Amino acid sequence: MSGNITFTMIKPGAVQNEHIGPILSMINDAGFRIVSMKYVKLRTKQAEVFYSVHKGKPFFKDLIKFITSGPVIAAILEKENAVQDYRELIGTTDPTKAAEGTIRKLFAKSIEHNAVHGSDSDENAVRECNFFFSYNERFAQDGNCMSV
Ligand code: CMP
Repeated sequence: MSGNITFTMIKPGAVQNEHIGPILSMINDAGFRIVSMKYVKLRTKQAEVFYSVHKGKPFFKDLIKFITSGPVIAAILEKENAVQDYRELIGTTDPTKAAEGTIRKLFAKSIEHNAVHGSDSDENAVRECNFFFSYNERFAQDGNCMSV
């Protein structure tokens, strides 16, 4: 059974280019509830832990440099079938291949600067929400959002 939460991050490029409002609007219009949200600048060590699954890949160093280059918006989103539906809303990792009307097609500059992150599985959604938000923050609104 698929879970009802996913994690997203609006990345530094999209934050700097004033895309926070339009992206949050698209998230709401697609039926997601924003359970918790914060504006935060990651330190290098934190980014390396968050993206540890990509450690050793050719793009890892640049990914860490980019994601720590400015503040991000981190948020927990709630909706039925959240992970899959959110991945459809944002489009593929490479914006040149993303479907028309998706967040990455509209706001991403490149695969490296691809506007937003979205969890790729229920398991990673829980891990990523736990990484950014404390127990109290995850239950900031009284949604029954985390089955951990
Ligand atoms: P994200 O969904 O945040 O997950 C890992 C990120 O690595 C990805 O988005 C991309 O921005 C970035 N990345 C950079 N180069 C590549 C690549 N060649 N393949 C996949 N991801 C890449």
